[in-house]
Amino acid sequence: SQYNNYLVFSCKYVECFQNGGNIFPVFSQRFSFSCFFLAVIRHCLPTCPDIQPPVKTVGPLTDADVIKLRPCEKKKVDFQDKLYLAPLTTCGNLPFRRVCKRFGADITCGEMAMCTNLLQGHQSEWALLKRHESEDLFGVQVEGCFPDTMTRCAELISNYADVNFVDINSGCPIDLVYKKGGGCGLMTRTRKFEQIIKGMNYVLDVPLTVKIRTGVQEKSSIAHKLIGEMKNWGVSMVTLHGRSREQRYTKLADWDYISTCAKLANPVPLFGNGDILSYEDAVKAKETGVSGVMIARGALIKPWIFTEIKESRHWDVSSSERLDILRDFTNFGLEHWGSDTRGVEKTRNFLLEWLSFMCRYIPVGLLERVPQKINERPPYYMGRNFLESLMASQNVDDWIRISEMLLGPVPKNFNFLPKHKANSYK
Ligand SMILES: Cc1cc2nc3c(=O)[nH]c(=O)nc-3n(C[C@H](O)[C@H](O)[C@H](O)COP(=O)(O)O)c2cc1C
Repeated sequence: SQYNNYLVFSCKYVECFQNGGNIFPVFSQRFSFSCFFLAVIRHCLPTCPDIQPPVKTVGPLTDADVIKLRPCEKKKVDFQDKLYLAPLTTCGNLPFRRVCKRFGADITCGEMAMCTNLLQGHQSEWALLKRHESEDLFGVQVEGCFPDTMTRCAELISNYADVNFVDINSGCPIDLVYKKGGGCGLMTRTRKFEQIIKGMNYVLDVPLTVKIRTGVQEKSSIAHKLIGEMKNWGVSMVTLHGRSREQRYTKLADWDYISTCAKLANPVPLFGNGDILSYEDAVKAKETGVSGVMIARGALIKPWIFTEIKESRHWDVSSSERLDILRDFTNFGLEHWGSDTRGVEKTRNFLLEWLSFMCRYIPVGLLERVPQKINERPPYYMGRNFLESLMASQNVDDWIRISEMLLGPVPKNFNFLPKHKANSYK
């Protein structure tokens, strides 16, 4: 009867879990069940020696529940010298990543997914974790601020998504994320950050990586202090965007600081990120001692940047070739989002978001001084043909016109406002 009492007691806790109770927040429900039952049984044994632990009745206990993967047994990823297409909210969708893969991006990453939305089962959030078959080294990025939810999230990703690595976004500057303590906020909440990294690492069988900034304030960089600690917490790779939260996109990324941090991170690979728009920029970046480079706006402005870097050349892509690239994107978009009215609408919107960056490209053949720099505002210029001029336009109506060439006329009263206004012009 004593044993029955334990069962009733335990069942109450099972109910509590099923109702969203949060007793062992760091571990998975299944793992928590097992641990909890074992703890109850262990606690009770001395007082009732005649009762044997009902191992068979405590639920599906597997080796994975009780035997932790040793770090050396985790799947490994060779990040060295790879070109990494940055995670890009809104713009870094699957069709865009397919385009970049064709041009030679080695590593791709899904758009930032919010941990709470994933845990609540939002379909649109889970869609961000979808991988295309061409993405042979693919990771997903999550944002969150609590060790329990982030760990649970990592476990779900491990079980239900097909990924080579999971990245924590601890560089996100937006208020919505930062004010809750997530994104960049994690860099100053080191205790929580440690628990998140350790918890996620515990349940993942793929590498855990972290993306950080130099710090929160412009004048007080803190990344170098964190990097030494993160090595001990078990991260497999760090990406450092060489700007603070405060800076956003003003001023150039600090590659001297990135270089210092790369040395501190060794042997953990550190990727440098910031302002790469040509193969010369990439060569200079690699000279700082980083393991690889991550490219964000450079890929949006000219996705063939990966080919340029791999082949050490400038590529004067004509306007009709650029239109072909956009056509590929729309085809991939219709395949991904559907070719019904809704699919066309989505494809158009994402195309327009992309065009809001692509218009910043200046064709190599027109440049007075090669290469183009990311922080220099392009002067007004006439293209070598009508299409080239149209593609250089900063006017939303012209982007819509380009979208109509590929997807047909827009509905009446169509309106578009780009989500990102990230620029670093002086
Ligand atoms: C449109 C856009 C979306 C972005 N979304 C993300 C994101 O989801 N996760 C992230 O870690 N960084 C994001 N970033 C930041 C970039 O990954 C990158 O760190 C930053 O743009 C600096 O690199 P760059 O100078 O090559 O553009 C985004 C940047 C842009 C322009």
